[in-house]
Amino acid sequence: MHKIISLEKVLQKQGFGSRKLCRIIINNGEVTVNDVVCDNPDEMIDTNHLRFSVRGENWEYHETSYLMMNKPANYECSRKTIHHPTIYSLLPYPIVQRGVQCIGRLDEDTTGLILLSDDGQFIHKMSSPKHNVPKVYEVVCKHDIDHSQISKLLNGVQLMDEPLPIAALACESISPNTIHLTLSEGKYHQVKRMIAAVSNRVVSLNRIKIGDLDLPIDLPQGKWRWLSDSDLSKLI
Ligand code: URA
Repeated sequence: MHKIISLEKVLQKQGFGSRKLCRIIINNGEVTVNDVVCDNPDEMIDTNHLRFSVRGENWEYHETSYLMMNKPANYECSRKTIHHPTIYSLLPYPIVQRGVQCIGRLDEDTTGLILLSDDGQFIHKMSSPKHNVPKVYEVVCKHDIDHSQISKLLNGVQLMDEPLPIAALACESISPNTIHLTLSEGKYHQVKRMIAAVSNRVVSLNRIKIGDLDLPIDLPQGKWRWLSDSDLSKLI
């Protein structure tokens, strides 16, 4: 969609601060638009495929933010954390300023794919139990996982405080003590509780897929990237 707005508005919408602050940054000659310095805050800019830089850092214009992150262990998903740093500290400040939120949460010791956005409808859709977006976890267990444990996970295990048994959508053996477990819900500590319910214990947990979107192998832990249109089509 072609949208033409002032440079001041571009910066403000992308999280660089108040209109007043954005005008100052632009007037100081600290902003380039498609590689050329632009020091006029009122210059009208086509946001389609816009690339700009602020103080030497390159940015793409995104009307709405859709991101993925490979969450490292020892980070918490809440904004105000208690024991560990927050995953929001791994994002550039302007993106945090835009109000992105993570979609669902991973435990502090869980690693892997987590989505973030500032699009309320998208967040709602992705986290709503109505849509049941499947998620795949690579689970390393303390003890080897036998066939009877796999069939219990597939047939449903009774968790405390849940009215009905909960079944995995799929459970694939990867090595004697590692499985790929696919779940449609995202209940509190669900993987750990399901594995405990079959008398085993999670040693490490890595989310490798949401919907049809795989955690990219070239996205290191602690790093993030924008979701492409093709990534988004794998989610909705
Ligand atoms: N299940 C868990 O037990 N922990 C997570 O972080 C995600 C799913």
